[in-house]
Amino acid sequence: MLLLSNLLPLLPFLGQASAATADEWRSRSVYQIMVDRFAPPNGDSGTPCNPDDRKYCGGTWSTLVSKLDYIQGMGYDAVWISPTGLNIEGFTYYGEAYHGYWITDPTKANPHFGSDDDLKALSAALHDRGMYLMVDIAVYALASNTGDISNAALAADNGGALLFKDQADYHPKCNIKWGDHDSEMKCWLATSGVALMDLDQSNSDVGDTLINWAKDYVQEFGIDGFRIDASKHMTQDFQHRMCTTAGVFCVGEVAGDNTAYASRFQGSSAIDSVFGFGLMYGFVQSFTGGHKMTSLENKIKLAAQSYSDPTVIGQFLDNQDLPRFNSLTSDKSLVYNAIVGCFMYGGIPMIYQGLEQELSDGHDDPYNREALWLYNDFSTSTPSYVNIANVNKIRHALNGDDKFLNSVATVQSVRDQDIALVRGSALIVLTNVSHPSADLECG
Ligand SMILES: *[C@@H]1O[C@H](CO)[C@@H](O)[C@H](O)[C@H]1NC(C)=O
Repeated sequence: MLLLSNLLPLLPFLGQASAATADEWRSRSVYQIMVDRFAPPNGDSGTPCNPDDRKYCGGTWSTLVSKLDYIQGMGYDAVWISPTGLNIEGFTYYGEAYHGYWITDPTKANPHFGSDDDLKALSAALHDRGMYLMVDIAVYALASNTGDISNAALAADNGGALLFKDQADYHPKCNIKWGDHDSEMKCWLATSGVALMDLDQSNSDVGDTLINWAKDYVQEFGIDGFRIDASKHMTQDFQHRMCTTAGVFCVGEVAGDNTAYASRFQGSSAIDSVFGFGLMYGFVQSFTGGHKMTSLENKIKLAAQSYSDPTVIGQFLDNQDLPRFNSLTSDKSLVYNAIVGCFMYGGIPMIYQGLEQELSDGHDDPYNREALWLYNDFSTSTPSYVNIANVNKIRHALNGDDKFLNSVATVQSVRDQDIALVRGSALIVLTNVSHPSADLECG
């Protein structure tokens, strides 16, 4: 006799074909994972890892599966994982490609992180828990030790691994003139060291190949969302075609403190969402940078004026490229206020691994890529772990109210050191008065 319970384990696999939409993502909160640095091989939290060595430390898609309780225990219902594609092999000018961003072929699995089947098993394990899988994709460029785009060099590069081997697939080498948007899209993010050879997605050879791959990738691996690396360096049109063809929610990295420009990447002829860099800078300035709360207020106002849909913007306090928030202040009460603001303001929190363990050595890359397993052995009782769990709980409860879910907060009142925000029926009060505090003035 065939029991329904025998079929239940198969359901997640059946579910893999359906990618999620912006409406389905809005209520979620996302835990950002650098796969190599998240969960140790063989469950051994003694596995050494020195970020300064810039080498692979052994985290994989399978080791990640063993720590999903840890992530879900904080109330996250989605993960974003570092890129899965094939990378430059060996020790480059800047070390090994442990972070996954030096793509040579996005269509093949990086064997350091596991096999296609391992990635599918991760996807199924997440779906089994009702969690979403967001994958980081880097399709703006291919990485090379030489940066030589002659046909002969491309054929030989990385042992013949490059997905695109024709000079016409690339934009000619040039250094970006920052602020010149055309140059940002066509020139190279790096021309030497590890060269990032900018792809010409308007060449159908490149554009169609990537779009068709993206569609298959989403279907085959059960991907619910893309985080698009270096979104700023590709046209909106290409990204729009890729995301709509793949039928998947996309959030783009349009780095920099320019909300108005970033907002041009969101919308019906662009993509669903971008990261809230502006708001992130607001939190950094008003909680660690000596600015008045009006800095945060200004970013909130800019976001409201600029984004076509502020309710799905990816909110964050730091990431793999930025100083850890805990490295900017030793005052945990300021960090907690920023966490509450980041989760409660609106949009989709996308929070880098390690905030919950209050990692603070990491200023910039590579120091902000510590192996998480070396800190507190995945403790679920550090104050920040507990705070994030609590704020996720509150957020989930309030998400039941449409007025909360489908809005972002507006500023109710602001003083130099505190700000009151309103979102639906929630009143959110944040202060940058340090702890132990000067007397809190009531008035
Ligand atoms: C909080 O805001 C005040 C300005 O009102 C500023 O002087 C102070 O430095 C800020 N604190 C932090 C930690 O940034």
